[in-house]
Amino acid sequence: MLPDETVPVNQYFSIPKVELHRHLEGSLRLTTMLDIARLHGVTVPASMFNLSGLVQVQDQDPMTFTNFLDKFKTLRLFYKSPDVIHRVTREAVEDAAKDNVRYLELRFTPVALSRAEGFPLHDVMDWVTTSAMEAGKKHKIKVGLIASVNRHESPELAEQVAWLAADHINDGMLGLDLAGNEAEFKSDPFRDIFKEAKQAGLHITIHAGEWGPAENVRDAIENLGAERIGHGVRVLEDENVTALARERAAIFEVCVTSNFQSGVVKSLLDHPLPRMLAAGLKVTVNTDDPSVSRITLAHEYQHVCDDLKVSLDDLKKSVLLAAESSFLKDAEKKKLVDLLRKELKL
Ligand code: ADE
Ligand code: ZN
Repeated sequence: MLPDETVPVNQYFSIPKVELHRHLEGSLRLTTMLDIARLHGVTVPASMFNLSGLVQVQDQDPMTFTNFLDKFKTLRLFYKSPDVIHRVTREAVEDAAKDNVRYLELRFTPVALSRAEGFPLHDVMDWVTTSAMEAGKKHKIKVGLIASVNRHESPELAEQVAWLAADHINDGMLGLDLAGNEAEFKSDPFRDIFKEAKQAGLHITIHAGEWGPAENVRDAIENLGAERIGHGVRVLEDENVTALARERAAIFEVCVTSNFQSGVVKSLLDHPLPRMLAAGLKVTVNTDDPSVSRITLAHEYQHVCDDLKVSLDDLKKSVLLAAESSFLKDAEKKKLVDLLRKELKL
């Protein structure tokens, strides 16, 4: 099988889907990377197989978060021009539409996209918002956007991103996310930024309890105002934090394959998602970085049902929950929820 291909279309393809947690930078097509390399003289291996090893997790790779994050270092070589940023944004939306995703909340990291070639942050924000909205209309998929800032990077830049995101609330920007190296960096320097972003009308989602302990889930909820938790799969390690997440109805954006590939869980079959459901937590199913992980959302739905033994009915309920937990405005959310309820027969 070519590295750019996925397993044969499975029955999960036909389920209408909602994606709350997908990074633009983890969604680049390999074929597009090769085009960019040719057009802009990026020195990369000429074959897809060799390029794949640099930007996608391989079966023989160490399943560690450093290996996972290293892929993004290579990916940064490709953000060469405004056209490239427009193109990868359009393609990320198109690929989600092809996977029968009805609502995509796509997150992107303006600092990563702007840094390589020194593009102004506000230009990057304009390029991504414009192309994402255009592609959404073209491919008949509803799209919302989230700006991500990394824990391991400067709070000053994060603050600029937060204000730019707030300025683009009417252009599809819905939220602010804290991502990056959770194992080594605390959220404290970002607290005020997230507080102000929330006051400015942005919704908040925080990567927590992925590469860091359950306590970080509490931190995300109590100190950063998180409505949703990116991953949060280590929450069960602390029953008090589990109880807090349940009481606050925190939404977990779980990404099964990503958790395996970045070493959070030792085996796919041991993923805590079913135990999170049993603990009464609100769980949604997402991809994180479909290109880096070489998956689609259909694959993740398949894992959840076939390998983790979640019933199809519970999976469909989690799709509806994802729609209900989207950062859309109330009227748009209701439209999406009504549509999915009908299509999923719930
Ligand atoms: N950036 C892209 N994928 C990520 C992940 N799984 N955790 C933290 N930051 C990320
Ligand atoms: Zn993520």
